[in-house]
Amino acid sequence: MAKKEDLVMNGSGVEEIGFPGWPQFAPEVPDEVSKVLRSGKVNYWTGKIGMEFEEAFAKWMGADFAVSCTNGTAALHIALSALGVGPGDEVIVPSYTFIASSFSVVQAGAVPVFGDVTEDHTLDPKGIEALITPRTKAIVVVHLYGVVADMGPILEIAKKHNLYVVEDCAQCIGGSYKGVKVGLLGDVGCFSFCQSKHFTTGGEGGMVVTNNEDLAWECRSFRDHGYDVRTRMNMLALEEKLPYIHRRVGFNYRMTEMQSVIGLCELRRFDSWNLKRRFEYAAMYDKALTGLKGIKAVAYNSEERRNAYWWYPILIDTDVLDITAKDFIKELIGLGIPCSGILWPESYLEQAYQEGVGFGDAHFPFKSKEYTDPKTVDYSRVVCPVARSLRDQTVSLFLHPSWEPSHIEKVIEGIKTVITNHLK
Ligand SMILES: Cc1ncc(COP(=O)(O)O)c(C=O)c1O
Repeated sequence: MAKKEDLVMNGSGVEEIGFPGWPQFAPEVPDEVSKVLRSGKVNYWTGKIGMEFEEAFAKWMGADFAVSCTNGTAALHIALSALGVGPGDEVIVPSYTFIASSFSVVQAGAVPVFGDVTEDHTLDPKGIEALITPRTKAIVVVHLYGVVADMGPILEIAKKHNLYVVEDCAQCIGGSYKGVKVGLLGDVGCFSFCQSKHFTTGGEGGMVVTNNEDLAWECRSFRDHGYDVRTRMNMLALEEKLPYIHRRVGFNYRMTEMQSVIGLCELRRFDSWNLKRRFEYAAMYDKALTGLKGIKAVAYNSEERRNAYWWYPILIDTDVLDITAKDFIKELIGLGIPCSGILWPESYLEQAYQEGVGFGDAHFPFKSKEYTDPKTVDYSRVVCPVARSLRDQTVSLFLHPSWEPSHIEKVIEGIKTVITNHLK
């Protein structure tokens, strides 16, 4: 039996206290995966399902191109590298996000420069220009928790300074800005289908989307050992001998056919079941918690910035409550309510950054004299005060599609109980 304290994260544990777990798969998934296994065509190049999933995802996005890959971190690595981001470059990225948003920059050979967020948990456009140097090549925007970042001003700054914009949509499948789905606002969008996400392709998975054809081919090449994929696909169509043309350095980040078939099944029910339920449950939270004494802010959503509700972060009002988020969460869990705190507000505090532990004994790129400005990688000087302040205020609620409205009601009831017990 898991301890109640261990139930803060979603997953199998929550079933033990009467909340359905996440992920759950579409009913046809086991049979569809078995069919692929029985066919023996399990690899991207031997089966056709990987390409079908890419086409279906691109169509659902309204994108011209989608490139599947092993996970969201790989998607970011592919996108940045295909844009030409590399040694000598700096990339602006929020400190408040999962480590992969900034590690992918380092994986590409560049260095991250950390920006602060606003209280909606996304990159503060007002702080960006002060971080730009002659080395800055791109901005990674993260739509954290499903909250869509304030893309208008960010895109304006990028245009003014000639910077690429990479959208990290790992937590935001189906959000939109002024009617355009996230992932298509900047130069390239990166998605994760890891186990806890909006939907998963069997535990791991990722996708890169873009409307830029040359960039899409570059992504395919980087994903696949640096092959000249365009030529390779033409040769396959002509049934000629496979050419082994490695036109650049690349990785093997290909998705398997079993993952792709799960992705196809989950995408089919995404709008009509998955996202629909998330929106319904978010509306229940909005109605119950907006303006409630003890709640400073509910999850940000507006006509312009349509939240995709991966999770539902609220800020508690520590001016009227005698409790911080950490204890609020403990008490909710004590009442049998699964929830979570803030996840990763200050990436720069990680040992890898503080001590500059990079690649090899040379610790590239942090300790590179040729490519890196030592001041930029002195992360001991970095502070993002808003991200830091959100630590004591943020309680993340879940709204998994596997839940029923009665589960959301239980969460709301729990929150009201804790608030009543802690009003100053
Ligand atoms: C914001 C963000 N970016 C990137 C990633 C990396 O995705 P993956 O775990 O699929 O590599 C994650 C996953 O947790 C994430 O939450």
